[in-house]
Amino acid sequence: MEAASDRTPSNRPGMHKVCVVGVSGKLGRYLVQHALDHGYEVVGVCRAESVDKLGPIRDRITVVPGATNDRDVIQRAVAGCDGVLTVLVPIGRGHYSSGTAQAVLDLAPPGARLIFSSGWHITRDGHDVYPWKVKALVFAARLAKLTGRVNLDDQVEACRRIFTSETRWTLVRGSDLEEGESQGLPLWSRHVGDPLLKSNITRRIDFALFMVDALINDELVHEAPVIVGRKTPSALSHAATVNH
Ligand SMILES: NC(=O)c1ccc[n+]([C@@H]2O[C@H](COP(=O)([O-])OP(=O)(O)OC[C@H]3O[C@@H](n4cnc5c(N)ncnc54)[C@H](OP(=O)(O)O)[C@@H]3O)[C@@H](O)[C@H]2O)c1
Repeated sequence: MEAASDRTPSNRPGMHKVCVVGVSGKLGRYLVQHALDHGYEVVGVCRAESVDKLGPIRDRITVVPGATNDRDVIQRAVAGCDGVLTVLVPIGRGHYSSGTAQAVLDLAPPGARLIFSSGWHITRDGHDVYPWKVKALVFAARLAKLTGRVNLDDQVEACRRIFTSETRWTLVRGSDLEEGESQGLPLWSRHVGDPLLKSNITRRIDFALFMVDALINDELVHEAPVIVGRKTPSALSHAATVNH
């Protein structure tokens, strides 16, 4: 499946101000870049010690420093926002991921579009069919929980809360990521295992593009799209099949 390409902020006037939660990471900075390119006013949340990572974009956005699972921080940051883009990472202690998701779900203005990120490993309905490489990475990540830094189970809990929420959410499930110039809007499917996704690679800049585009794509409300780069071999072969 593919998101339509004719959506622009000018034909969806309801989207003016967006918050990026987790703005200082690699994905967060791309989210800001696309949101500014779309003409949105941007508020960003990141840990105080990470504000310096923002570089020149620091001057183009409003920054609310603090932990992303701090409800007071999120309440201030999302006030007046039409959309919230949340980088959900299985990192940190004290239910960081689920606390972040819960704060956004509870405190974003009613009716706001809420877009969250995760990896392919999150399943909504159990109908995903995983390649061995993804299974191996999940196994390794669960072992890493012993270090106290990675907590995949808490990200799973965060997503469970999103899936049962009545807010206008979308969870974008990213493939393996790489850096590089944009290839355009990724293609998507509802389930891992779809041949379309076989290449399992997306440019990080395009993961962010998909999330920002989802703000004004109502077809993605209450969906958990699994994405893949649009110029990858599996996406190109899917496009060739569709065109014949
Ligand atoms: N990496 C991949 O290959 C991959 C693949 C598929 C999907 N994804 C998904 O893509 C999204 C972004 O992942 P990414 O790997 O590209 O990372 P990223 O964008 O660089 O973001 C990492 C985030 O983790 C935060 N963080 C790091 N250490 C932390 C700590 N101790 N406590 C609290 N927060 C901490 C960072 O905040 P600071 O700036 O404050 O450190 C930053 O916001 C995630 O949702 C991930 O599940 C990633």
